[in-house]
Amino acid sequence: MAADYSMQVVAPFSPLIIKATAPDAVVSALNVRVDQILGAQGERRARDWSQHLAGNLTTEVRMTDVIRQMPELTDFLYDVARTYTYRCENALLNYGNYSETEELKDKTLEIQIKEGWVNDMYAGDFNPVHYHQGCIYSCVLFLKVPQGYEAEFQADKHRQNSVGCLQFIDSRTAVGTRNLFMVKPVVGEFYLWPSWMLHCVYPFRGAGVRRSMSVNMALA
Ligand SMILES: [Fe+2]
Repeated sequence: MAADYSMQVVAPFSPLIIKATAPDAVVSALNVRVDQILGAQGERRARDWSQHLAGNLTTEVRMTDVIRQMPELTDFLYDVARTYTYRCENALLNYGNYSETEELKDKTLEIQIKEGWVNDMYAGDFNPVHYHQGCIYSCVLFLKVPQGYEAEFQADKHRQNSVGCLQFIDSRTAVGTRNLFMVKPVVGEFYLWPSWMLHCVYPFRGAGVRRSMSVNMALA
């Protein structure tokens, strides 16, 4: 029976996350460059960024300069960050109604890349719960997953499938509200979120490398 009164879910609050797929060429170019860096002992040591990061993992190399010099990558990052900003602004201003999005598209917005790095994780590595400081947005691009990862993930029969996954945490609980969001790493997939949002990465047990790039961004 149709009700003769109106009802609308309004969604005025954050946090929102945007998901995108990076061009294959960007993923390939990054992997080539990271493999070069990790193959050169001197550069690998010079770029070691582990003292600045939360991760309990094998390799964390600073890539800020490299990222800034890859136009196809920076175009992608800027585009997703701008789109996220406009859509969030629109959603928050209009209670989740996206009908005004076109108007916001015309705005120009300068995105700054503050820091960027690449993590290589091997069996047992993990990234404890943390958030990113000194920026507005943080993001991840998955660059490699271990060859046997899919089989390991499918074999994980625990109540919550978490092996090798990234998880976002928001402490609030309510009917209709999720406070945990699990993300399975898939090469080429990209997520951007407000930098204050807590997140962590769970370990896996199989052989091979799980590689991801993270970038902290701000609005100019
Ligand atoms: Fe992080």
